Amino acid sequence: MVQRRQCGRGCVGEGVLTERAAGQRGSGAVAGNELLFADAGLERSDGALLLGGVSLAEIAERVGTPAFVYNAEAIRDRFRSLDAALKAVPHRICFAVKANSNLAVLRILRDQGAGADIVSSGELARVLAAGFDPAHVVFSGVGKTADELRSAIRAGIGHLNVESTEELQHIARIADSEQAQVKIGIRVNPDVTTETHPYISTGKSGIKFGMPTDQVVPAAELIQRHPRLELTTLAMHLGSQLVDTEPFRQGIRKLIDLVERVRRGGITTLQVLDIGGGLGIRYSDEQSLDPVAFAAAVIPLLVPTNLTVYLEPGRFLVGSAGVLLARVLYRKHSGGKEFVVVDAGMNDLVRPSHYQAYHEIVELVEHHRPGSRADVVGPVCETGDFLALDRALPGLEAGDGLAVLGAGAYGFVMASNYNSRPRPPEIMVDEGKWWVAREREKVETLFSTEKLSPT
Ligand code: LLP
Repeated sequence: MVQRRQCGRGCVGEGVLTERAAGQRGSGAVAGNELLFADAGLERSDGALLLGGVSLAEIAERVGTPAFVYNAEAIRDRFRSLDAALKAVPHRICFAVKANSNLAVLRILRDQGAGADIVSSGELARVLAAGFDPAHVVFSGVGKTADELRSAIRAGIGHLNVESTEELQHIARIADSEQAQVKIGIRVNPDVTTETHPYISTGKSGIKFGMPTDQVVPAAELIQRHPRLELTTLAMHLGSQLVDTEPFRQGIRKLIDLVERVRRGGITTLQVLDIGGGLGIRYSDEQSLDPVAFAAAVIPLLVPTNLTVYLEPGRFLVGSAGVLLARVLYRKHSGGKEFVVVDAGMNDLVRPSHYQAYHEIVELVEHHRPGSRADVVGPVCETGDFLALDRALPGLEAGDGLAVLGAGAYGFVMASNYNSRPRPPEIMVDEGKWWVAREREKVETLFSTEKLSPT
Protein backbone atom coordinates (compact mmCIF):
# COMPACT_ATOMS: atom_id res chain seq x y z
CA MET A 1 0.00 0.00 0.00
CA VAL A 2 1.32 3.43 -0.86
CA GLN A 3 1.04 5.68 2.16
CA ARG A 4 -0.76 8.88 1.41
CA ARG A 5 0.54 12.13 2.73
CA GLN A 6 -0.54 12.28 6.39
CA CYS A 7 -3.91 13.96 6.28
CA GLY A 8 -4.47 15.43 9.71
CA ARG A 9 -7.72 16.97 8.60
CA GLY A 10 -9.22 13.57 8.17
CA CYS A 11 -9.22 14.27 4.48
CA VAL A 12 -11.78 17.00 4.76
CA GLY A 13 -10.62 19.90 2.69
CA GLU A 14 -7.91 18.33 0.61
CA GLY A 15 -8.70 14.69 0.19
CA VAL A 16 -10.20 14.62 -3.28
CA LEU A 17 -7.13 15.93 -4.98
CA THR A 18 -4.52 14.02 -2.99
CA GLU A 19 -4.90 10.46 -4.08
CA ARG A 20 -2.70 7.44 -3.85
CA ALA A 21 -1.05 6.34 -7.08
CA ALA A 22 -3.27 4.86 -9.78
CA GLY A 23 -3.94 1.20 -9.26
CA GLN A 24 -3.52 1.41 -5.50
CA ARG A 25 -7.17 1.78 -4.68
CA GLY A 26 -10.50 1.03 -6.06
CA SER A 27 -12.17 -2.31 -5.82
CA GLY A 28 -12.20 -2.89 -2.10
CA ALA A 29 -9.55 -5.57 -2.39
CA VAL A 30 -6.65 -3.25 -1.57
CA ALA A 31 -5.21 -3.26 1.94
CA GLY A 32 -6.19 0.37 2.56
CA ASN A 33 -9.84 -0.53 2.50
CA GLU A 34 -9.64 -3.17 5.20
CA LEU A 35 -10.00 -0.66 8.01
CA LEU A 36 -12.78 1.20 6.20
CA PHE A 37 -14.59 -2.08 5.66
CA ALA A 38 -14.15 -3.05 9.31
CA ASP A 39 -15.48 0.33 10.53
CA ALA A 40 -18.59 -0.06 8.36
CA GLY A 41 -19.21 -3.78 8.82
CA LEU A 42 -18.56 -4.36 5.10
CA GLU A 43 -17.16 -7.56 3.67
CA ARG A 44 -16.69 -9.30 0.31
CA SER A 45 -18.22 -12.67 -0.37
CA ASP A 46 -17.45 -14.15 -3.79
CA GLY A 47 -16.86 -10.62 -5.02
CA ALA A 48 -20.21 -9.32 -3.75
CA LEU A 49 -20.22 -6.48 -1.22
CA LEU A 50 -22.14 -7.19 1.97
CA LEU A 51 -23.08 -4.68 4.66
CA GLY A 52 -23.96 -6.27 7.99
CA GLY A 53 -24.17 -9.57 6.11
CA VAL A 54 -26.68 -8.28 3.53
CA SER A 55 -25.95 -8.01 -0.19
CA LEU A 56 -25.86 -4.38 -1.25
CA ALA A 57 -26.37 -5.38 -4.90
CA GLU A 58 -29.65 -6.97 -3.85
CA ILE A 59 -30.76 -3.82 -2.01
CA ALA A 60 -29.81 -1.69 -5.03
CA GLU A 61 -31.82 -4.01 -7.26
CA ARG A 62 -34.88 -3.92 -5.01
CA VAL A 63 -35.06 -0.22 -4.02
CA GLY A 64 -33.14 1.33 -6.89
CA THR A 65 -30.33 3.87 -6.74
CA PRO A 66 -29.29 6.28 -5.35
CA ALA A 67 -30.03 4.94 -1.85
CA PHE A 68 -28.46 5.35 1.58
CA VAL A 69 -27.92 2.13 3.55
CA TYR A 70 -26.99 2.04 7.25
CA ASN A 71 -25.66 -0.84 9.34
CA ALA A 72 -27.39 -0.87 12.74
CA GLU A 73 -24.76 -3.06 14.35
CA ALA A 74 -21.92 -0.77 13.23
CA ILE A 75 -23.73 2.15 14.92
CA ARG A 76 -24.11 0.13 18.12
CA ASP A 77 -20.45 -0.90 18.01
CA ARG A 78 -19.34 2.69 17.82
CA PHE A 79 -21.59 3.73 20.66
CA ARG A 80 -20.40 0.87 22.85
CA SER A 81 -16.72 1.55 22.13
CA LEU A 82 -17.04 5.18 23.15
CA ASP A 83 -19.23 4.41 26.13
CA ALA A 84 -16.78 1.78 27.39
CA ALA A 85 -13.79 4.08 26.87
CA LEU A 86 -15.42 6.71 29.10
CA LYS A 87 -16.47 4.38 31.91
CA ALA A 88 -14.05 5.97 34.41
CA VAL A 89 -16.17 9.15 34.51
CA PRO A 90 -19.90 9.66 34.92
CA HIS A 91 -20.96 10.60 31.39
CA ARG A 92 -23.72 10.89 28.84
CA ILE A 93 -23.23 10.55 25.10
CA CYS A 94 -25.68 12.92 23.40
CA PHE A 95 -25.90 12.00 19.71
CA ALA A 96 -25.63 15.10 17.49
CA VAL A 97 -28.86 14.54 15.58
CA LYS A 98 -27.77 16.83 12.73
CA ALA A 99 -25.43 14.07 11.51
CA ASN A 100 -28.28 11.68 10.75
CA SER A 101 -31.82 12.29 11.96
CA ASN A 102 -33.58 9.23 10.55
CA LEU A 103 -35.94 7.89 13.22
CA ALA A 104 -34.59 4.34 12.92
CA VAL A 105 -31.05 5.62 13.55
CA LEU A 106 -32.28 7.66 16.51
CA ARG A 107 -34.12 4.68 17.96
CA ILE A 108 -30.99 2.50 17.78
CA LEU A 109 -28.98 5.10 19.67
CA ARG A 110 -31.72 5.72 22.20
CA ASP A 111 -31.87 2.00 22.89
CA GLN A 112 -28.14 2.05 23.55
CA GLY A 113 -28.70 4.71 26.21
CA ALA A 114 -27.73 7.79 24.21
CA GLY A 115 -29.09 11.26 24.84
CA ALA A 116 -29.45 13.73 21.99
CA ASP A 117 -27.91 17.05 20.97
CA ILE A 118 -30.38 19.03 18.87
CA VAL A 119 -30.24 22.36 17.06
CA SER A 120 -33.83 23.03 15.95
CA SER A 121 -37.42 22.31 16.86
CA GLY A 122 -37.48 19.97 13.87
CA GLU A 123 -34.80 17.89 15.55
CA LEU A 124 -36.69 18.18 18.85
CA ALA A 125 -39.78 16.72 17.19
CA ARG A 126 -37.70 13.88 15.76
CA VAL A 127 -36.06 12.92 19.06
CA LEU A 128 -39.41 12.96 20.82
CA ALA A 129 -40.89 10.82 18.03
CA ALA A 130 -37.99 8.39 18.44
CA GLY A 131 -38.75 8.11 22.15
CA PHE A 132 -35.84 9.95 23.77
CA ASP A 133 -36.33 11.07 27.35
CA PRO A 134 -36.50 14.88 27.01
CA ALA A 135 -34.34 15.18 30.14
CA HIS A 136 -31.51 13.60 28.10
CA VAL A 137 -31.73 16.19 25.34
CA VAL A 138 -29.42 19.19 24.97
CA PHE A 139 -30.37 22.11 22.70
CA SER A 140 -27.43 23.93 21.05
CA GLY A 141 -27.17 26.53 18.28
CA VAL A 142 -26.55 30.25 17.84
CA GLY A 143 -29.94 31.19 16.45
CA LYS A 144 -32.73 29.56 18.43
CA THR A 145 -36.04 31.34 17.83
CA ALA A 146 -38.60 32.19 20.52
CA ASP A 147 -40.86 29.40 19.23
CA GLU A 148 -38.01 26.90 19.38
CA LEU A 149 -37.02 27.93 22.89
CA ARG A 150 -40.61 27.77 24.07
CA SER A 151 -41.22 24.30 22.62
CA ALA A 152 -37.96 23.01 24.14
CA ILE A 153 -38.89 24.43 27.57
CA ARG A 154 -42.40 22.97 27.33
CA ALA A 155 -40.96 19.57 26.35
CA GLY A 156 -38.79 19.66 29.49
CA ILE A 157 -35.44 19.18 27.79
CA GLY A 158 -32.29 18.63 29.86
CA HIS A 159 -30.70 22.01 29.26
CA LEU A 160 -30.34 24.81 26.75
CA ASN A 161 -26.80 25.66 25.69
CA VAL A 162 -26.81 29.46 25.31
CA GLU A 163 -24.37 31.11 22.94
CA SER A 164 -24.76 34.84 23.67
CA THR A 165 -25.84 37.22 26.43
CA GLU A 166 -28.73 38.44 24.28
CA GLU A 167 -29.98 34.89 23.87
CA LEU A 168 -29.75 34.46 27.64
CA GLN A 169 -31.87 37.56 28.24
CA HIS A 170 -34.35 36.25 25.69
CA ILE A 171 -34.55 32.89 27.49
CA ALA A 172 -35.04 34.67 30.83
CA ARG A 173 -38.09 36.50 29.43
CA ILE A 174 -39.52 33.26 28.02
CA ALA A 175 -38.91 31.41 31.32
CA ASP A 176 -40.86 34.19 33.08
CA SER A 177 -43.75 34.11 30.64
CA GLU A 178 -43.87 30.30 30.73
CA GLN A 179 -43.41 30.31 34.51
CA ALA A 180 -40.91 27.52 34.00
CA GLN A 181 -37.62 26.61 35.64
CA VAL A 182 -34.97 26.36 32.91
CA LYS A 183 -31.59 24.68 33.13
CA ILE A 184 -28.87 26.49 31.25
CA GLY A 185 -25.51 25.59 29.82
CA ILE A 186 -23.15 28.26 28.63
CA ARG A 187 -21.46 27.25 25.40
CA VAL A 188 -18.03 28.77 25.64
CA ASN A 189 -15.86 29.69 22.69
CA PRO A 190 -12.52 28.54 24.15
CA ASP A 191 -10.48 30.01 21.29
CA VAL A 192 -8.75 26.76 20.38
CA THR A 193 -7.27 26.15 16.95
CA THR A 194 -8.24 22.90 15.23
CA GLU A 195 -6.93 21.25 12.08
CA THR A 196 -10.04 20.79 10.03
CA HIS A 197 -11.91 22.35 7.15
CA PRO A 198 -12.58 26.04 7.94
CA TYR A 199 -16.34 25.56 7.45
CA ILE A 200 -16.47 23.09 10.34
CA SER A 201 -13.99 24.67 12.76
CA THR A 202 -16.12 26.14 15.53
CA GLY A 203 -13.99 26.74 18.64
CA LYS A 204 -11.85 29.66 17.50
CA SER A 205 -12.54 33.25 18.46
CA GLY A 206 -13.87 35.44 15.66
CA ILE A 207 -16.45 32.93 14.48
CA LYS A 208 -20.12 32.94 15.36
CA PHE A 209 -20.15 30.08 17.89
CA GLY A 210 -19.98 30.17 21.68
CA MET A 211 -19.56 32.88 24.27
CA PRO A 212 -16.11 34.47 24.54
CA THR A 213 -14.40 33.44 27.78
CA ASP A 214 -14.49 36.96 29.27
CA GLN A 215 -18.30 37.03 29.05
CA VAL A 216 -18.84 33.71 30.81
CA VAL A 217 -18.61 34.75 34.47
CA PRO A 218 -20.93 37.77 34.01
CA ALA A 219 -23.40 35.49 32.17
CA ALA A 220 -23.17 32.93 35.00
CA GLU A 221 -23.95 35.70 37.52
CA LEU A 222 -26.92 36.83 35.45
CA ILE A 223 -28.26 33.26 35.47
CA GLN A 224 -27.64 32.94 39.20
CA ARG A 225 -29.59 36.12 39.93
CA HIS A 226 -32.59 35.01 37.89
CA PRO A 227 -35.07 32.98 39.98
CA ARG A 228 -36.18 30.81 37.04
CA LEU A 229 -32.76 30.00 35.59
CA GLU A 230 -30.16 27.56 36.83
CA LEU A 231 -26.63 27.19 35.47
CA THR A 232 -25.94 23.46 35.24
CA THR A 233 -23.41 23.22 32.43
CA LEU A 234 -20.35 24.70 30.82
CA ALA A 235 -19.98 23.49 27.24
CA MET A 236 -17.77 23.74 24.18
CA HIS A 237 -17.71 22.32 20.67
CA LEU A 238 -14.41 22.79 18.90
CA GLY A 239 -15.18 21.62 15.41
CA SER A 240 -15.84 18.53 13.39
CA GLN A 241 -13.69 15.69 12.03
CA LEU A 242 -10.94 16.26 14.62
CA VAL A 243 -8.32 13.52 14.74
CA ASP A 244 -5.97 15.02 17.30
CA THR A 245 -6.68 14.94 21.06
CA GLU A 246 -4.62 18.02 21.91
CA PRO A 247 -7.30 20.62 21.01
CA PHE A 248 -9.74 18.76 23.28
CA ARG A 249 -7.21 18.95 26.14
CA GLN A 250 -6.67 22.68 25.54
CA GLY A 251 -10.39 23.36 25.40
CA ILE A 252 -11.12 21.30 28.51
CA ARG A 253 -8.42 23.14 30.46
CA LYS A 254 -10.07 26.43 29.53
CA LEU A 255 -13.49 25.12 30.56
CA ILE A 256 -12.10 23.91 33.89
CA ASP A 257 -10.53 27.30 34.52
CA LEU A 258 -13.98 28.82 33.98
CA VAL A 259 -15.61 26.21 36.24
CA GLU A 260 -13.26 27.32 39.02
CA ARG A 261 -13.96 31.00 38.42
CA VAL A 262 -17.72 30.39 38.41
CA ARG A 263 -17.48 28.33 41.61
CA ARG A 264 -15.31 30.97 43.29
CA GLY A 265 -18.10 33.44 42.56
CA GLY A 266 -20.35 31.37 44.84
CA ILE A 267 -22.25 29.49 42.14
CA THR A 268 -22.66 25.88 43.22
CA THR A 269 -25.16 24.59 40.67
CA LEU A 270 -22.77 23.24 38.01
CA GLN A 271 -23.29 19.54 37.29
CA VAL A 272 -22.11 18.97 33.72
CA LEU A 273 -19.06 19.63 31.58
CA ASP A 274 -20.06 19.25 27.93
CA ILE A 275 -16.97 18.76 25.79
CA GLY A 276 -18.85 18.72 22.48
CA GLY A 277 -18.51 16.43 19.50
CA GLY A 278 -16.09 16.42 16.61
CA LEU A 279 -14.46 13.02 17.00
CA GLY A 280 -13.03 12.27 13.57
CA ILE A 281 -13.44 9.08 11.55
CA ARG A 282 -11.53 7.31 8.78
CA TYR A 283 -12.61 8.23 5.24
CA SER A 284 -9.46 6.93 3.57
CA ASP A 285 -6.29 5.49 5.05
CA GLU A 286 -5.69 8.47 7.32
CA GLN A 287 -5.58 8.58 11.08
CA SER A 288 -8.91 8.56 12.93
CA LEU A 289 -9.67 9.32 16.55
CA ASP A 290 -9.45 6.16 18.63
CA PRO A 291 -11.93 6.32 21.53
CA VAL A 292 -9.48 4.71 23.97
CA ALA A 293 -6.74 7.22 23.10
CA PHE A 294 -9.30 10.01 23.29
CA ALA A 295 -10.46 8.88 26.73
CA ALA A 296 -6.88 8.48 27.95
CA ALA A 297 -6.16 12.07 26.90
CA VAL A 298 -9.20 13.73 28.44
CA ILE A 299 -10.20 11.65 31.48
CA PRO A 300 -7.30 12.71 33.74
CA LEU A 301 -8.40 16.32 33.25
CA LEU A 302 -12.08 15.55 33.80
CA VAL A 303 -12.01 13.37 36.93
CA PRO A 304 -11.02 16.12 39.40
CA THR A 305 -13.95 18.33 38.35
CA ASN A 306 -16.49 15.89 39.86
CA LEU A 307 -18.82 16.89 37.02
CA THR A 308 -20.77 14.61 34.71
CA VAL A 309 -19.17 14.66 31.28
CA TYR A 310 -21.37 15.15 28.22
CA LEU A 311 -20.18 14.42 24.70
CA GLU A 312 -22.01 15.39 21.49
CA PRO A 313 -20.61 13.10 18.80
CA GLY A 314 -22.43 12.84 15.49
CA ARG A 315 -20.10 11.64 12.76
CA PHE A 316 -18.21 9.24 15.04
CA LEU A 317 -21.36 7.23 15.80
CA VAL A 318 -22.91 7.00 12.34
CA GLY A 319 -20.47 8.20 9.65
CA SER A 320 -18.73 4.92 8.88
CA ALA A 321 -21.92 2.90 9.28
CA GLY A 322 -23.54 4.24 6.10
CA VAL A 323 -22.98 3.94 2.36
CA LEU A 324 -24.59 5.62 -0.62
CA LEU A 325 -25.48 3.22 -3.42
CA ALA A 326 -25.20 4.52 -6.97
CA ARG A 327 -25.17 3.08 -10.47
CA VAL A 328 -22.94 3.90 -13.41
CA LEU A 329 -24.97 5.53 -16.19
CA TYR A 330 -22.28 6.25 -18.77
CA ARG A 331 -18.56 6.33 -19.44
CA LYS A 332 -17.32 9.42 -21.20
CA HIS A 333 -13.98 10.72 -22.54
CA SER A 334 -13.59 14.47 -22.92
CA GLY A 335 -10.67 16.89 -23.08
CA GLY A 336 -8.17 14.12 -22.38
CA LYS A 337 -10.07 13.08 -19.26
CA GLU A 338 -12.20 10.13 -18.34
CA PHE A 339 -15.54 10.44 -16.61
CA VAL A 340 -17.76 7.94 -14.90
CA VAL A 341 -21.27 9.43 -14.87
CA VAL A 342 -23.35 8.00 -12.02
CA ASP A 343 -26.96 8.46 -10.89
CA ALA A 344 -26.05 10.06 -7.51
CA GLY A 345 -25.08 13.70 -7.42
CA MET A 346 -24.19 16.60 -5.18
CA ASN A 347 -27.85 16.90 -4.19
CA ASP A 348 -27.61 13.42 -2.65
CA LEU A 349 -24.13 13.69 -1.09
CA VAL A 350 -22.80 17.24 -1.04
CA ARG A 351 -19.63 16.62 0.99
CA PRO A 352 -17.21 16.10 -1.93
CA SER A 353 -18.27 19.35 -3.68
CA HIS A 354 -18.84 21.40 -0.54
CA TYR A 355 -15.81 20.44 1.57
CA GLN A 356 -13.66 18.72 -1.08
CA ALA A 357 -14.14 15.67 1.12
CA TYR A 358 -12.80 12.27 0.20
CA HIS A 359 -15.22 9.33 0.09
CA GLU A 360 -13.99 5.92 -0.94
CA ILE A 361 -15.93 4.35 -3.83
CA VAL A 362 -16.07 0.59 -4.38
CA GLU A 363 -17.89 -1.81 -6.69
CA LEU A 364 -20.96 -3.65 -5.43
CA VAL A 365 -19.74 -6.68 -7.36
CA GLU A 366 -16.09 -7.03 -8.28
CA HIS A 367 -15.50 -7.50 -11.98
CA HIS A 368 -11.68 -7.41 -11.97
CA ARG A 369 -11.54 -5.32 -15.14
CA PRO A 370 -8.38 -3.27 -15.76
CA GLY A 371 -8.57 -0.02 -13.82
CA SER A 372 -8.01 3.60 -14.80
CA ARG A 373 -8.25 7.10 -13.34
CA ALA A 374 -11.46 9.03 -13.76
CA ASP A 375 -13.70 11.71 -12.28
CA VAL A 376 -16.87 10.26 -10.79
CA VAL A 377 -19.56 12.82 -11.58
CA GLY A 378 -23.29 13.10 -10.98
CA PRO A 379 -26.18 14.17 -13.19
CA VAL A 380 -26.58 17.65 -11.65
CA CYS A 381 -25.96 20.62 -13.92
CA GLU A 382 -22.89 22.01 -12.16
CA THR A 383 -19.22 21.39 -12.82
CA GLY A 384 -18.89 21.10 -9.04
CA ASP A 385 -21.15 18.05 -9.08
CA PHE A 386 -18.73 15.23 -8.40
CA LEU A 387 -18.21 12.41 -5.94
CA ALA A 388 -14.50 11.97 -6.70
CA LEU A 389 -11.86 13.63 -8.87
CA ASP A 390 -9.02 11.92 -10.66
CA ARG A 391 -9.75 8.72 -8.75
CA ALA A 392 -8.04 5.40 -9.44
CA LEU A 393 -10.96 3.07 -10.09
CA PRO A 394 -11.51 -0.46 -11.25
CA GLY A 395 -12.78 -0.82 -14.82
CA LEU A 396 -16.42 0.27 -14.72
CA GLU A 397 -19.22 -0.08 -17.23
CA ALA A 398 -22.74 1.28 -17.52
CA GLY A 399 -25.03 -0.59 -15.12
CA ASP A 400 -22.35 -1.35 -12.52
CA GLY A 401 -23.37 -0.70 -8.93
CA LEU A 402 -21.15 1.35 -6.64
CA ALA A 403 -21.02 2.07 -2.91
CA VAL A 404 -19.78 5.44 -1.70
CA LEU A 405 -18.42 4.81 1.79
CA GLY A 406 -18.55 7.00 4.90
CA ALA A 407 -21.98 8.35 3.94
CA GLY A 408 -23.76 7.72 7.26
CA ALA A 409 -23.13 11.21 8.64
CA TYR A 410 -23.98 14.48 6.89
CA GLY A 411 -25.21 12.49 3.90
CA PHE A 412 -28.99 12.26 3.66
CA VAL A 413 -29.46 15.15 6.12
CA MET A 414 -27.67 17.51 3.73
CA ALA A 415 -29.39 16.15 0.63
CA SER A 416 -31.48 18.62 -1.37
CA ASN A 417 -34.00 18.63 -4.18
CA TYR A 418 -31.74 20.62 -6.50
CA ASN A 419 -32.62 19.90 -10.13
CA SER A 420 -35.98 18.66 -8.75
CA ARG A 421 -34.36 15.40 -7.79
CA PRO A 422 -36.31 13.47 -5.12
CA ARG A 423 -34.17 12.56 -2.12
CA PRO A 424 -33.02 8.93 -1.92
CA PRO A 425 -34.51 6.30 0.39
CA GLU A 426 -32.76 5.29 3.61
CA ILE A 427 -32.38 1.58 4.30
CA MET A 428 -31.49 -0.01 7.64
CA VAL A 429 -29.68 -3.32 7.82
CA ASP A 430 -29.87 -5.29 11.07
CA GLU A 431 -29.40 -8.94 12.04
CA GLY A 432 -29.03 -10.03 8.42
CA LYS A 433 -32.29 -8.32 7.38
CA TRP A 434 -33.08 -4.88 5.98
CA TRP A 435 -36.00 -2.51 5.79
CA VAL A 436 -36.84 0.80 4.17
CA ALA A 437 -36.41 3.27 7.04
CA ARG A 438 -37.45 6.15 4.81
CA GLU A 439 -39.00 5.83 1.38
CA ARG A 440 -37.66 7.47 -1.73
CA GLU A 441 -39.24 10.88 -2.05
CA LYS A 442 -41.83 11.18 -4.82
CA VAL A 443 -41.58 13.84 -7.51
CA GLU A 444 -45.22 14.88 -6.93
CA THR A 445 -44.53 15.74 -3.28
CA LEU A 446 -41.80 18.12 -4.39
CA PHE A 447 -44.37 20.52 -5.86
CA SER A 448 -47.53 19.44 -4.05
CA THR A 449 -47.75 22.71 -2.06
CA GLU A 450 -46.97 25.01 -5.01
CA LYS A 451 -49.67 27.18 -6.60
CA LEU A 452 -49.85 27.99 -10.29
CA SER A 453 -51.81 31.20 -9.70
CA PRO A 454 -53.11 33.43 -6.85
CA THR A 455 -56.44 31.61 -6.59
N1 LLP B 1 -22.19 19.64 18.75
C1 LLP B 1 -22.33 20.80 18.08
C2 LLP B 1 -22.71 22.00 18.85
C3 LLP B 1 -22.10 20.87 16.70
O1 LLP B 1 -22.23 22.02 16.06
C4 LLP B 1 -21.75 19.68 15.99
C5 LLP B 1 -21.53 19.70 14.54
C6 LLP B 1 -21.64 18.49 16.72
C7 LLP B 1 -21.85 18.50 18.09
C8 LLP B 1 -21.31 17.18 16.08
O2 LLP B 1 -20.09 17.20 15.42
P1 LLP B 1 -19.50 15.81 14.89
O3 LLP B 1 -19.28 14.91 16.09
O4 LLP B 1 -20.48 15.21 13.97
O5 LLP B 1 -18.25 16.16 14.21
N2 LLP B 1 -21.60 19.03 7.53
C9 LLP B 1 -20.24 18.91 7.99
C10 LLP B 1 -20.14 18.77 9.48
C11 LLP B 1 -20.80 19.91 10.22
C12 LLP B 1 -20.74 19.78 11.72
C13 LLP B 1 -21.54 20.84 12.39
N3 LLP B 1 -21.62 20.74 13.80
C14 LLP B 1 -19.55 17.75 7.26
O6 LLP B 1 -20.20 17.12 6.43
O7 LLP B 1 -18.37 17.49 7.47
